[in-house]
Amino acid sequence: MQNPVEEILHKRHSLRRYAKRQPERGVIDACLEAARIAPSAQNSQLWRFHVIDDPALRDEIALAATGGVYLPSKFIREAPVIIAALAKTDIRINRIGTFLQGVQFYLFDLGVACQQLVLRAEELGLGSCYIGWFDVDAVRRLLTVPKNEHLVCLLALGYPPEGYTLPGTHKRKELHTIARYNRE
Ligand SMILES: Cc1cc2nc3c(=O)[nH]c(=O)nc-3n(C[C@H](O)[C@H](O)[C@H](O)COP(=O)(O)O)c2cc1C
Repeated sequence: MQNPVEEILHKRHSLRRYAKRQPERGVIDACLEAARIAPSAQNSQLWRFHVIDDPALRDEIALAATGGVYLPSKFIREAPVIIAALAKTDIRINRIGTFLQGVQFYLFDLGVACQQLVLRAEELGLGSCYIGWFDVDAVRRLLTVPKNEHLVCLLALGYPPEGYTLPGTHKRKELHTIARYNRE
């Protein structure tokens, strides 16, 4: 594959096992920088990223996040970095969008930024996994998230363990079932 974007898009898969190696701050910052330059509705840039790379705090958060019904997400306890992806909800464009169009633009904006982060992580050799299934209230408490910020998801980041082999192709719907042209 010649095109680097295409290569990264195909390479990225959710990683749920991680090497112990701690990702360097410079590498994490490069991922955050990719999120920083993402587009957003009216350039509102309402995203906030809270990086947890301190092992003790990471353990505390990962444990609290994955108790009880959230146990299926317990693999994040092995992830050396957890990033809480947050969005400020008191932004005018978001209120207008919700009121007039029924669209929560902040979720869209944050999703775009997260995907830029994740793709840059992949390029830098890090694997990642989005975590939507976790105890939001417990994590909010531990990170003292302000009321005007919505904690939408977590991103687990880490290097793949030794000997890790990528899954083959993505399991996805056929293109013709999800896209059409004109009046087809
Ligand atoms: C918003 C969002 C939330 C997700 N939440 C979880 C989760 O809680 N636990 C998990 O194991 N994977 C989670 N995933 C990962 C998806 O299961 C995964 O992206 C999908 O199965 C496609 O596989 P791939 O990422 O390897 O291509 C989430 C993905 C997204 C985009």
